[in-house]
Amino acid sequence: MKNSTQKVLLSEAQIDRRVEELAGEISAEYRGKKVLLVCVLKGAVVFASDLMRRLKVAVEIDFMAVSSYGSETASSGAVRILKDLDSSIRGKDLLIVEDIVDTGLTLDYICKNLLSRKPSSLKVVTLLDKPARRKVEFTPDFCGFEIPDYFVVGYGLDFDENYRQLPGIHILQPGNKG
Ligand code: PRP
Repeated sequence: MKNSTQKVLLSEAQIDRRVEELAGEISAEYRGKKVLLVCVLKGAVVFASDLMRRLKVAVEIDFMAVSSYGSETASSGAVRILKDLDSSIRGKDLLIVEDIVDTGLTLDYICKNLLSRKPSSLKVVTLLDKPARRKVEFTPDFCGFEIPDYFVVGYGLDFDENYRQLPGIHILQPGNKG
């Protein structure tokens, strides 16, 4: 953490309130159904675990890990599956849980891949959305916050695997060496 300064963009309390609201919207959408949450590792684990405990519908959860090739803070476009879902999703109502949509390339790939497995329905919830960075058209069904093009960490999001444990979302700013 020595080489960066951090400014709070979204506090723990702001995130908490918004997650509660999202859980209400999602519970209404899936009323009377069971939803399979597909948590995209690693960034979305904190959001997924907070969200699922607030849902008022039956829930299952599974995990998927994907990797994009490219530079440290920018997605390049090529995506590969590092860990696939444990079970078939055929006929299930899927909700992909993401921490952030940036270029949209990751979710574009995941959605196309999962849709080919014939779920009953497929929707996406993301905590954060950076529409200014889109390379492919992608609109999440549920979104916590639209944010400007800052590099953000915390609440599951990392820089070089650090900062994921911060309870709020922080803007990472280079500088203050030492
Ligand atoms: C982040 C985030 C999304 C993806 C979004 O994951 O969790 O999966 O980038 O970027 P995109 O819209 O430009 O494709 P990351 O590759 O940082 O991995 P992590 O979740 O393990 O930190």
